[in-house]
Amino acid sequence: MEKILQIENLTKNFGNLRALSSIQFDLNKGEIVGIIGPNGAGKSTLLNIISGVTPLDKGRIIFNGVDITNKRTFERCRLGIVKTSQIVQPFSKLTVFENIYLAAIYGGREKSKEASTKAEEIICFLNLKHLKNEYGGNLTLHEKRRLDFGRALATQPSILLLDENMGGLIPDEIDEALRFIKDINQSGVSIIIVEHVMSVVRGVSDRVVVLNYGEKIADAATEEVFNDKNVLKAYFGE
Ligand SMILES: Nc1ncnc2c1ncn2[C@@H]1O[C@H](COP(=O)(O)OP(=O)(O)O)[C@@H](O)[C@H]1O
Ligand SMILES: [Mg+2]
Repeated sequence: MEKILQIENLTKNFGNLRALSSIQFDLNKGEIVGIIGPNGAGKSTLLNIISGVTPLDKGRIIFNGVDITNKRTFERCRLGIVKTSQIVQPFSKLTVFENIYLAAIYGGREKSKEASTKAEEIICFLNLKHLKNEYGGNLTLHEKRRLDFGRALATQPSILLLDENMGGLIPDEIDEALRFIKDINQSGVSIIIVEHVMSVVRGVSDRVVVLNYGEKIADAATEEVFNDKNVLKAYFGE
């Protein structure tokens, strides 16, 4: 299998706290990898380091065979690595269309005409047509999350990093989000998903990596991980 992302020996400290300890894993092209672990395990830190928001202390990040460890966030975005965040932050004074359009421009591969076409396409794909001219600030949480997806997609990622995008959603909304994730993946985007809701991770991931206090304690096919004694122990105690 072709590796699109290689995390090598990644270590991160915050002061005396070791948030990540020699983490090693690969993302294969076309794969969805779930990352789970108790609160504070280092999941968000890991995604932030991959997207370039947080600098690492030690280790390397290889994207399509190229070392991107020292690349900045916007450079990684232009290469095709983009993250949606736990905190929903569309521009509230811009419309849905403008939000997605700007993301397409930021992605850097678009002229204004193409960005506009791209934004229209994404609005259709995400069933946001009726909200196209609505201000970001007027959307419901669910709609904001969808817009967040839209902004991420507009950058034309080859790797999409999702950090707890489903918090606060009702089951129907989660199902819809899951369908979007599967469709996005089908369109050729490799995905790393961090999600609190276990059924979500179990439902979409080809493989699951488990973090516990900054250590990787499992990395295997999804069902194997969910039957792993060490994993169950990390979650539920003895
Ligand atoms: N900017 C920061 N400064 C100091 N400590 C941090 C910072 N970000 C995260 N941490 C700490 O690093 C650990 C891992 O956090 P995080 O990656 O957010 O965990 P998770 O997303 O798995 O809940 C936690 O103990 C957290 O308190
Ligand atoms: Mg987190």
